[in-house]
Amino acid sequence: MHVILARQQLSPNVTRLDVAAPRIARVRRPGQFVIVRLADCSERIPLTIADADPARGSITLVIQAVGKSTRELSALQPGDSIHDIAGPLGQPTELIPAGTALCIGGGVGTAVVYPIAQGLRQRGARVVSVIGARSSEWIIFQQELASLGDVIVCTDDGSCGRKGFVTDAARDLLEAGGMDIVYAVGPVPMMRAVAELTRRYGTRTIVSLNPVMIDGTGMCGGCRVSVGGAVRFACVEGPEFDGHLVDFNELQDRLSTYREFERRAEACAADACRLNRSPTQP
Ligand code: NAD
Ligand code: FES
Repeated sequence: MHVILARQQLSPNVTRLDVAAPRIARVRRPGQFVIVRLADCSERIPLTIADADPARGSITLVIQAVGKSTRELSALQPGDSIHDIAGPLGQPTELIPAGTALCIGGGVGTAVVYPIAQGLRQRGARVVSVIGARSSEWIIFQQELASLGDVIVCTDDGSCGRKGFVTDAARDLLEAGGMDIVYAVGPVPMMRAVAELTRRYGTRTIVSLNPVMIDGTGMCGGCRVSVGGAVRFACVEGPEFDGHLVDFNELQDRLSTYREFERRAEACAADACRLNRSPTQP
């Protein structure tokens, strides 16, 4: 069992949990993730390790409540527990040791960019971050990234920072030159747009993919993605790949496969909740 040590609401549907996991906190590296199961029979949810504190023996998980299981995880309070956490899983980020890295985070993907930016700073690279959100209340990890380098905030509605998508700010930075590599994490359309943009400038681009994952150990094939025409398993060979080689159409297609099942699971959970509250209702 892994006890929740702290909880923070970062945006309307994004929650930060600091969870006791001493061994993972000691050995994890930027870019790696865990698979959590809230209870013995719960769904397995892959989550990037956003931060870790080896002295406290904790890891930080950032959860966007989008379905039944993520809503249950987001509702956990300090003192509650997660049944099991497997990890660290996946390959660590390829970090450049010098030069300038442009780190682009879209929405909740910004929490995935943070450990990459931390790793880059620790290795000695300069970090410039561009983070985007729908509006001001959805911006996360701004202060944490500001402690590592310059941060440009973009909002779709202009309520904070620059109005527009992260790609608008990234274009200006790439046009000015001096970026040795780009790391981009966020919604699939964003990562695709970043990859298309950086291709024009010939700037190496790493994206972190979020396909459906089940076992997380390379056995089920659920997380398969196409990169450079080859099948790759994101859980063991990724989750980070060369953005210029990723088949984003296929990724988007596969991500939508289980949408109807997820919708039904949510409807069932809502029914069960209603029945528990009003057992006399039909
Ligand atoms: P969102 O839809 O609010 O978008 C966040 C920002 O991304 C926008 O403000 C914009 O700046 C940028 N963006 C979005 N679409 C764009 C486009 N077509 N072109 C250029 N920029 C664009 O983000 P959200 O709701 O926080 O993200 C949710 C999605 O992110 C989910 O689909 C989730 O699965 C995915 N996600 C991915 C990872 C990963 O590892 N890649 C991690 C967590 C979540
Ligand atoms: Fe099963 Fe990757 S999640 S092979």
